[in-house]
Amino acid sequence: MNSKIYFGDNLEVLNELPSESIDLIYIDPPFNTGKVQGRTQIKTIRSEEGDRNGFQGERYVTIKLGTKSYSDTFDDFLSFLEPRLKEAYRILSRNGSMYFHIDYREVHYCKILLDKIFSRESFLNEIIWAYDYGARSKKKWSTKHDNILLYVKNPDDYIFNFDEIERIPYMAPGLVGEKKAEKGKTLTDTWWHTIVPTNGKEKTGYPTQKPLGILRRIVKVSSNENSTILDFFAGSGTTGVAALENNRKFILVDKNPEALEVMAKRFDGVSNVDWINFDPSPYQSCISQEGSTPIQTTLFDKVE
Ligand SMILES: C[S@@+](CC[C@H](N)C(=O)[O-])C[C@H]1O[C@@H](n2cnc3c(N)ncnc32)[C@H](O)[C@@H]1O
Repeated sequence: MNSKIYFGDNLEVLNELPSESIDLIYIDPPFNTGKVQGRTQIKTIRSEEGDRNGFQGERYVTIKLGTKSYSDTFDDFLSFLEPRLKEAYRILSRNGSMYFHIDYREVHYCKILLDKIFSRESFLNEIIWAYDYGARSKKKWSTKHDNILLYVKNPDDYIFNFDEIERIPYMAPGLVGEKKAEKGKTLTDTWWHTIVPTNGKEKTGYPTQKPLGILRRIVKVSSNENSTILDFFAGSGTTGVAALENNRKFILVDKNPEALEVMAKRFDGVSNVDWINFDPSPYQSCISQEGSTPIQTTLFDKVE
């Protein structure tokens, strides 16, 4: 089977997928922030007439390349999610797992909904992804984490490749033996990980793009080679890139044409991908692939 990328509403696609066919689902739905999520992508070129200071004190002019955005407001967020999560449960293989990425605003309501669909026994972890970026609040503790809920179809038998867990340094290496200190310790349910670097080659310009490092961890531990991985709120296609890197197949779905454009560029040159309801060719072979150097861009957040 080829990997697949669908343009369309995910509920319609989910309805068509066979039961118990997917080992790993990762979803990162809109967080219901009540805003339009947007990123404006700019390019800077050195010029004496420039409007900003840059590298080595030179002046740079800013050229706006475009804005990508999607609406993140729902009248009834849980009613939107519920039929999609029920379908996700049906599609998940008998030893499959689902990672549900959300933030502090909705996580408690979603947990109750997921407990109802999967059962409380099927809940394994709440992973806290902690980062440190952006402005700080003066009125409350600054919120600098996301929540990732992990559910499995069968709590007695599920894919969990312990040996694939990334190792991190001991906080007090002097307290353990030299060998242990060198090996490091396994990650817990609290992950310190940077956001996608604003100037790095990983950045696609898609709003709320998640770091590949987070997806790599999930893919390696909760799926096997040749597993199929589903992300039905795919955005820029981060899950597909992590799957591809680790010899897994993927199915991605998004209903925003700008997400499909970004994915067309991100998967440019990748064979064995079927595009459904979307022609990627006008956007391909015009930008470098994952792993090579992209055009120089700087990005800033724009929340409307
Ligand atoms: C938070 S973003 C996902 C970002 C993604 N994880 C990444 O790394 O780029 C959520 C995505 O869900 C998509 N979306 C929202 N409702 C949808 C629906 N009913 N069907 C398909 N996609 C949907 C939005 O267009 C948006 O791209």
